[in-house]
Amino acid sequence: MDNRPIGVLDSGIGGLTVASAIARILPNEQLIYFGDTAHLPYGDKSKELIREYTLSITDFLLNEKNCKCIVIACNTASAAAYEFLRDAFKGKVPVFNVIDPIIEAVVENNSLKKIGIIATKTTIESGVYQEKLSRRKPGLHFSALATPLLAPMIEEGFCNDSISKAVVHNYLEQEELHGIDALILGCTHYVNIRREIDEFYNGQVILFDSTDIVAIKLKNILGKEALLNEGTDRAEHHFFVSDYTSSFQKTTELFFGREIKLEKKKLE
Ligand code: DGL
Repeated sequence: MDNRPIGVLDSGIGGLTVASAIARILPNEQLIYFGDTAHLPYGDKSKELIREYTLSITDFLLNEKNCKCIVIACNTASAAAYEFLRDAFKGKVPVFNVIDPIIEAVVENNSLKKIGIIATKTTIESGVYQEKLSRRKPGLHFSALATPLLAPMIEEGFCNDSISKAVVHNYLEQEELHGIDALILGCTHYVNIRREIDEFYNGQVILFDSTDIVAIKLKNILGKEALLNEGTDRAEHHFFVSDYTSSFQKTTELFFGREIKLEKKKLE
């Protein structure tokens, strides 16, 4: 039994979709969430810069908050910095990304032929989904589309309204995405507009996102490594931001169903 907290990071509110799935599937675990709002969006930043930011956050989560593992709850940071962080903290704590569990889920479905991927520019340019999927399952076809407006739109609170509907339709109508039988929501922010995407396709396209599947993977690995907190007390989560935004406050309260006191932490 290990009652240290789990560290979860993202550029902003996107990772809250993953954090709330972890809180539901692992209710005894305490979460320390870090939203790097001062550097948002990550999706148009270079790999080098994202590595620098996520290294500072991970240092904070391990050295100041004593976390037992790190969940990179961001596709862009998973694409740009996962191997880097995993190797940097090898032998100290396990580091999880949100891409590999999606790869597993897609590979398990044998009916898929053409997979669409929507994500930030940095994730799409990395080619990480296509590369990992082709290695596991040769013969799949891909259509990848960068959708850079979506994360800032969601971060600003535009979800399930006429603005988000227009933007979502505009992207999904692009020719690149015609004829797909599954769509990977390759950014943790997009879970907030999953319903709109599903409505666009009338439920006819299978959607993959990184919420429950990441939480289940985390549960299995922490279990195997004897890192689960098997106590019965419900732990209190903490939420850090590198810059205060009211939309972050609102969304966190919405996800966790209670009043939240955001803590501000300037990154070194
Ligand atoms: N939520 C993030 C992702 O999964 C980052 C979005 C952004 O900051 O651009 O890619």
